Amino acid sequence: MLKEITYQCPSNIALVKYWGKKSGGVQLPANASISWTLSNLFAKTTVSQEMASSLEVDFYLDGQLKENFVPKIKQFLDRIIPLAPELNNRKYTIHSTNNFPHGAGIASSAAGFGALALCFAELEGKFVSSSEEFYARASEFARLGSGSACRSVYALPAVWGHHNDIPGSSDIHAVPFPFEIHENLKNWMDAVLIIDDGEKSVSSTEGHDLLKNHPYAEARFKQANTNLTRISECFVSGDVDTFMKIVESEALQLHAMMMSSEPYYLLVKPNTLAAIEKVWAFRRQTNTPVCFTLDAGANVHVLFPKSSEIQVKNFIETELLPYCKNQLYLCSDTGGLPIKS
Ligand code: PMV
Repeated sequence: MLKEITYQCPSNIALVKYWGKKSGGVQLPANASISWTLSNLFAKTTVSQEMASSLEVDFYLDGQLKENFVPKIKQFLDRIIPLAPELNNRKYTIHSTNNFPHGAGIASSAAGFGALALCFAELEGKFVSSSEEFYARASEFARLGSGSACRSVYALPAVWGHHNDIPGSSDIHAVPFPFEIHENLKNWMDAVLIIDDGEKSVSSTEGHDLLKNHPYAEARFKQANTNLTRISECFVSGDVDTFMKIVESEALQLHAMMMSSEPYYLLVKPNTLAAIEKVWAFRRQTNTPVCFTLDAGANVHVLFPKSSEIQVKNFIETELLPYCKNQLYLCSDTGGLPIKS
């Protein structure tokens, strides 16, 4: 064996959403997005490398050989090898685990491709690990696996996609938010309500594709970029009310784009909407800073500052668990870093 590398990488949740790709490149975003990592929801991946006459991959999830994952990983390697030819002609044995339950409806691709990309950036050995260049490289690799995964390698909120107000931002890789963040928007938590754990009727890849001929696409891309400017201002000023409005509006716009695609589709469920109504009522009645976001699925991410943890968890456990499949929700801090072991 030549080398073995292990990385743990968190999942992430977008606050301003990436939905739609630019044409003429691989996984280039049509608009800029920003996310928080979910420190307690992560993938841990070990890549062992041996010399071989061609590219070979064995992939194990939780110790079980999974041949059906191999084409996606080979596609990922086919995309990164032109950038890092020294990664070719190797046999890779990959062991991965997620610390959150499978089939919980949580997108595991961001954490999974994040961890894999960090291992391959380390195997490439072009940049000193933990340097700024190293994380940019790992983020670039991760993007080529799953677009949103490129934001998982930074502890600070990560911005992906060129944006005039974010110095250094790029379509190629994510960058850490470059300005000082106000205390009000540090140390937030995400409680993910598992509303539905079934297979999604339309995958993210298909969903991105439907933006190509979407009548509202250009307006949406413009709005996302405007929201990125506005949310950046909130991060600096600490304006929590405006922050929460932007986050919720982004979640609803993402799903509005799905509902107005051709063909149209719905990923939210009745319990998604019921939980959102409850979050709004709780916020109105208690003035607690709490808001929701959604990814491309039915689960509701309830976001709140750690200082409100007791009240919000109590609210979730008394009022929201009936809407969750098997009464399940997963709680995480935000802002965790990948860890090399
Ligand atoms: O990275 P993908 O292709 O799975 O796209 C994910 C897109 C959203 O999760 C819906 C939004 C985002 O920015 O993460």
